[in-house]
Amino acid sequence: MQDMPSLPGRRIVLGITGGIAAYKTPELVRLLHARGALVRVVLSHSARQFVTAGALAAVGAQVVDDRGPGMVHIELARWADAILIAPATAHLLSRLAAGAADDLLTTACLATEAPLCVAPAMNRVMWRHAATRANCALLAERAVVFIGPAEGPQACGEDGPGRMTEPCEIVAALERLWAAHGSLQGVRAVVTAGATYEALDPARGFTNRSTGKMGYALAAALADQGASVTLVSGPTALAPPPGVRIMAVTSAAQMRDAVMACREEMDVFVGAAAVADYRPQTVLARKLKKTADALTITFVRNPDILAEVAALTPPPFTVGFAAETGDLESQARAKRARKGIDLMVANPIDEEGVGFAHDDNRVLLIDKDRTVAWAAAPKTEVARALVREIIKRLPRTAPP
Ligand code: CTP
Repeated sequence: MQDMPSLPGRRIVLGITGGIAAYKTPELVRLLHARGALVRVVLSHSARQFVTAGALAAVGAQVVDDRGPGMVHIELARWADAILIAPATAHLLSRLAAGAADDLLTTACLATEAPLCVAPAMNRVMWRHAATRANCALLAERAVVFIGPAEGPQACGEDGPGRMTEPCEIVAALERLWAAHGSLQGVRAVVTAGATYEALDPARGFTNRSTGKMGYALAAALADQGASVTLVSGPTALAPPPGVRIMAVTSAAQMRDAVMACREEMDVFVGAAAVADYRPQTVLARKLKKTADALTITFVRNPDILAEVAALTPPPFTVGFAAETGDLESQARAKRARKGIDLMVANPIDEEGVGFAHDDNRVLLIDKDRTVAWAAAPKTEVARALVREIIKRLPRTAPP
């Protein structure tokens, strides 16, 4: 495993509300960014009196407002791995407790399934006030994570609880949150992704239209849950997800060898690659010249990596993909049984806008007992939902 930052690729929505401590948020963004996190910032109207969008952008944040097209709050809510509100004013806590949804930040908080963290900041009397106590108790009951507040001298000249926790400690709290949240801590996952390339001669070969997006999204989603992930990837144009070990391969035979080299350290196997079923029997050492009018190439079968992994003793938890044209469910269900795998994810490749090379996917989830159809969604979301299904089915992990 390569050296990795402590918050690799974590997507954090930072909500900044109008307390004097907002002046510390560029430092908070800088620290998060330095640890590999991606930060989008939502500034409340009053926060703009204490910190500027320009200062936050300069240290790596993307400042978001609701003037863009579409449903910005939903997009933000889905994007987030966590929402952090720092500083969180007494007013913001009361609005969260009431379920308010009257601006971008509160609507995103209501629309997200990601953990919500708050770093309160206010005068000590306000913090101790019965109304604030009641709001905090309600929010804690709803699993809102409180980071602080700290005690000490306050901007108002008083001394007591209500100072915003220092940025470095907020970052440490987030690191702990993920360390504790990942349901796949200690689980070793191997994911194949992309197409394979089967050479015919030094210039030519056979491949397919897979881009690797689904497999890369799955590797990232597994790593997000704390799994240590090896991504065995055919040639793709994608950047490796942060914190994931990459084994770059070209042909199906190389992919098979790379996967089998991990056989002793594989608790979960996800075969998302579009592996070529056949390869040219002979790989020519020199370029094939066009001398004949017709050309016949003999192909031989490639190893079936997924079936081979499923036949290991003991087998890891195995997930396969079935890209089909025609009757999706019956073909994929038969394929699941034939390969002896735990979960088959079936997707149509003859439908507009989903599947191969698209950002969205529409899948059927097929296990031994049932089939569940999921609506079309971005591959990153399908990946996260699939990981939740894997976690549910793994014997020794708790639901996220
Ligand atoms: N797979 C594999 N090794 C192969 C072929 C496929 O590991 N040589 C895996 C794929 O990664 C995928 C699943 O098997 O998870 C199903 O792939 P698919 O191409 O749909 O099925 P095939 O077994 O190749 O069957 P067919 O092409 O006849 O539909």
